[in-house]
Amino acid sequence: MKTSLLFAIAALPVQTVVYALARPNTNDGPRVLGLETQRRAPRNPTHRDKLRKRGTLEVGLDNEETLYFINGTVGTPPREVRLHIDTGSSDLWVNTPSSSFCSSRGSPCAYSGTYEANSSSTYEYIASNFNISYVDGSGATGDYVSDTVSFGSQTIDRLQFGIGYSSTNGQGILGIGYPLNEVQVGRAGLPPYNNLPAQLVADGVIQSNAYSLWLNDLDANTGNILFGGVDAEKYVPPLQSLPIESTSGVHGEFMITLTNLQLNDQTLTGGSSTDPLAIAVLLDTGSSLTYLPDHLVSELYTAVGAIYNASTNAAYVPCALARSDPSARLRFTFTSPTIAVALDELVLDLVTASGARPVLDDGQTACLFGVAPAGEGTYVLGDTFLRSAYVVYDLENHEIAMASTRFNTTATRVLEIGTGSEAVPGVTRVSDPVRATEGLRGLNASDSAGVRGVEGAWRAVLAGVVGVAVVMGVL
Ligand SMILES: *[C@@H]1O[C@H](CO)[C@@H](O)[C@H](O)[C@H]1NC(C)=O
Ligand SMILES: *[C@@H]1O[C@H](CO)[C@@H](O)[C@H](O)[C@H]1NC(C)=O
Ligand SMILES: *[C@@H]1O[C@H](CO)[C@@H](O)[C@H](O)[C@H]1NC(C)=O
Ligand SMILES: *[C@@H]1O[C@H](CO)[C@@H](O)[C@H](O)[C@H]1NC(C)=O
Ligand SMILES: *[C@@H]1O[C@H](CO)[C@@H](O)[C@H](O)[C@H]1NC(C)=O
Ligand SMILES: *[C@@H]1O[C@H](CO)[C@@H](O)[C@H](O)[C@H]1NC(C)=O
Repeated sequence: MKTSLLFAIAALPVQTVVYALARPNTNDGPRVLGLETQRRAPRNPTHRDKLRKRGTLEVGLDNEETLYFINGTVGTPPREVRLHIDTGSSDLWVNTPSSSFCSSRGSPCAYSGTYEANSSSTYEYIASNFNISYVDGSGATGDYVSDTVSFGSQTIDRLQFGIGYSSTNGQGILGIGYPLNEVQVGRAGLPPYNNLPAQLVADGVIQSNAYSLWLNDLDANTGNILFGGVDAEKYVPPLQSLPIESTSGVHGEFMITLTNLQLNDQTLTGGSSTDPLAIAVLLDTGSSLTYLPDHLVSELYTAVGAIYNASTNAAYVPCALARSDPSARLRFTFTSPTIAVALDELVLDLVTASGARPVLDDGQTACLFGVAPAGEGTYVLGDTFLRSAYVVYDLENHEIAMASTRFNTTATRVLEIGTGSEAVPGVTRVSDPVRATEGLRGLNASDSAGVRGVEGAWRAVLAGVVGVAVVMGVL
C-alpha cells in the first residue's frame, strides 16, 4: 500500500543483551510464551529471575528504533534467524543462502540469517506455492515447508513456513496475523495452516490464540511480546476491548475504529468534514510510521510545523521538536480508550548513507515525523503509535484490548489468557463501540480496494534500516 520510503532510520549501533532463558510450560506458572526485547540495556538478572520463577519463556528481541526483531532457529541442526515481527501479515518466511539475491554482493541476507532445507534432517517439503509480496513492493517466492522452529528454549517440533528461493528482501519476517491472511489462502486458495500463534495453541504451549505487545518507548531498550498472556504491570488501567472490524463477516486483519484524533485540546477535522470520524485503522507492527487520512495529516503538519516532501511521502521536523513541549500529545480515541502519544515519540532520527544527519533549509537537524498521509492506501497505526499502547490481540474473540503503555517499567505480573469469551484477564468491554464507516476493505485478491489478503503489511521504511536502500537526499 505505501510506496517505498527509502530512508535509513537511525540504525545506530546497539549493544544487545541476550538473556538466559526460563523454561516454559512447567506445571506452575502461567502457560505463556514471553519474548523480550532488549536494546543497549544492562543485563538485568533480577528481572530475568522474576520471569524464571513465573515459568515463562523469555527471548531477546532487538529494537533498533523502528524495528522489532526476534531471534529464533529453524531446522536441525538449528540455523539462527532473526525475524521481524509483523502483525500485518501472517506467514513466517526465511531466506535461503543460495538465492540470487542472498548470494549477491554484500551478502544482504547475512544480517538476518538464512535456512538451507537440504541441510536440515527434519525438513519436510509441503508445496511450491509460497508467494508473498508486501506493500513496499518487496517479496519472496519459493516453497512452503515445515521444520523444527525454536524461540529461546521453546521448540515447536513442526511449523509451516515459507522459504524465499527467490526474494527481494534480506529480512526474514514473522507474520503473526490471522491464518486467513496467509498467502496460501489468499493466493493459492488453500485452507489456512497453523502459523506460529495458532501452532502454539495446537501444541498446548498457550491456551488461546491471543498475545500482547509492549513495544515500550522510542528510547527504551526493553519491549515484550507475550503469547497467551497479559502483563498487568505493563499498562495503565483500564484495559478496554473493542471488536476487530470484519468485512462480510470475515475477520482477516487487525482493524479497529478510530473515532477521534486530537492534538493537545484541538480535534483535527481536516477542515472538510463535519461528520464524526469513524475510520478503520490497521494495527501493524510492520509499519514504522502511522498513516492517516490526508486532510487530517495536513492539518497536523501545519500545527506542528512539519515539512512534507511528496517524493518520499513523508514529513520532516526539526529534531528539537521532540523537546519543545514535553506536555504535547497526539490523542487517538477509539470510542472509549484514548491513547495519548507524546510528541517526542513521533520524532524519529534520520541518518544518511554517509552517516551524516540531514538538515532543514534553516540549518536545523532534520528528523522524520511519525505520521504520514495514507493517500489511497489503508489507514495504519504503526510503531509510532503502538509504542504508546499496550495491545492485546485476541484472535479467538476477534477483539483488541488496549491501554496506555506504562513505559520503562521493570515490574511484571504475567496473567494467562484462558479460553472463552472472557479469556483476557482484566479487560472491560467498551459498550456501544462505533463501527467504521470508512477504510475497511475485503480480503479478496480481486477486491477493488486493492490486493489485501495477498499482500502483507511489512513496509519499506524498515528496508532502509536493514541496509537495503538508502537514498536520503539533501533536504
Ligand atoms: C540476535 O541475533 C543476532 C545475530 O546473531 C545477535 O547479534 C543479537 O545479539 C541477538 N539478539 C538477541 C536479543 O538475542
Ligand atoms: C535437495 O536435494 C535434492 C537432491 O539433490 C534436490 O533434488 C532438491 O532440489 C534439493 N531441494 C532443495 C530445496 O534445495
Ligand atoms: C506471485 O504472485 C503474483 C501475483 O499473483 C504473480 O504475478 C507472480 O507471478 C507470482 N510469482 C510466482 C513465482 O509464482
Ligand atoms: C525510558 O527510558 C529511556 C532510557 O533510559 C529514557 O530515555 C526515556 O525517557 C524513558 N521514557 C519515559 C517515558 O520515561
Ligand atoms: C470474495 O469473493 C467471493 C467470490 O467472488 C465472494 O463470494 C465472497 O463473498 C468475497 N468475500 C469477501 C470477504 O468479500
Ligand atoms: C524531497 O526529498 C528528495 C529525496 O530525498 C530530495 O531530493 C528533494 O530535494 C526533497 N524536496 C524538498 C522540497 O525538500
